[in-house]
Amino acid sequence: MQAITVADRSADPALAELPYPHAAENDVVVRVHAAGFTPGELTWPATWTDRAGRDRTPSVPGHELSGVVADLGYGTTGLTVGQRVFGMADWARNGSLAEYTAVEARNLAPLPADVDHVTAAALPISGLTAWQALFDHGRLTAGRTVLVHGAAGSVGSLAVQLAREAGARVLGTGRAADRDTVLGLGAEAFFDPLSPDIGPVDLVLDVLGGEVLDRSAELVRDGGTLVTIAEPPRVRPGIFFVVEPDRARLADLAQRVRDGRLRPRIDTVRPLAEAPAAFGARGRTIIRVA
Ligand SMILES: NC(=O)c1ccc[n+]([C@@H]2O[C@H](COP(=O)([O-])OP(=O)(O)OC[C@H]3O[C@@H](n4cnc5c(N)ncnc54)[C@H](OP(=O)(O)O)[C@@H]3O)[C@@H](O)[C@H]2O)c1
Repeated sequence: MQAITVADRSADPALAELPYPHAAENDVVVRVHAAGFTPGELTWPATWTDRAGRDRTPSVPGHELSGVVADLGYGTTGLTVGQRVFGMADWARNGSLAEYTAVEARNLAPLPADVDHVTAAALPISGLTAWQALFDHGRLTAGRTVLVHGAAGSVGSLAVQLAREAGARVLGTGRAADRDTVLGLGAEAFFDPLSPDIGPVDLVLDVLGGEVLDRSAELVRDGGTLVTIAEPPRVRPGIFFVVEPDRARLADLAQRVRDGRLRPRIDTVRPLAEAPAAFGARGRTIIRVA
């Protein structure tokens, strides 16, 4: 099968031939139709080593996928061959930039027939991260105010939509050119991330880290929460977390897309052979594989 591989930390991603993946216990092999990736994943340890710390190169990047179940591993229940699915690929195994990938079945959810694979491939990491940040870690409820940094980005744009629908007041930050986009998603005000005009809020969702994260701590009201997905906070206590798979929440996100209540950001769609160039591109690229 064809796949994008990275041979070592100094090599660029490249198109290669790999053997069809093995479906281990509780796995499914998915025929990938569309895949998402994070340019920064080439710096993650799990891209290079397996869970025991052993070298696993050449490795296949990409941790978001939408496709059709092609094979079931021993003991796999809950999904069937031929079923449309979407979800997250495991961090420390070959990922989604391939014609086929083996994934733990519990990381996937059924994909409704009226949600296309490209849209579905843009949802798993960004959507679950936004949800978990706002509601699992941030305990956001109706009437509270949340500041979403990077609000036009992949995670931020979904966070703005989810928070608005939950009845929260949303303030967004980002590049000046993205003001209208962020307001159009449902934010009631837009700022530069370091603006002195941002008032106290109940929750900050930071995706930028660094100085923005340091300054964000001052914006949280007493009893409020700072949640970041960028790096552990240095200045004041806050919650840093890494997104976890969640089949039930994926199903909920897909339903919101069907209803027209949620739209992931997608800037560019490219074929698998062009995925290496997409690693250096700005904006959100989804790779159409099948
Ligand atoms: N911990 C986790 O579980 C987890 C999960 C998902 C993502 N992440 C990480 O979270 C970060 C954000 O992910 P994402 O997918 O949402 O990225 P993204 O799509 O690039 O969104 C970031 C947004 O912030 C904007 N931005 C960046 N720097 C800015 C600045 N200095 N001032 C104003 N706006 C700025 C970007 O604008 P431009 O596009 O114009 O630069 C973009 O709109 C990444 O580092 C990613 O690796 C972590």
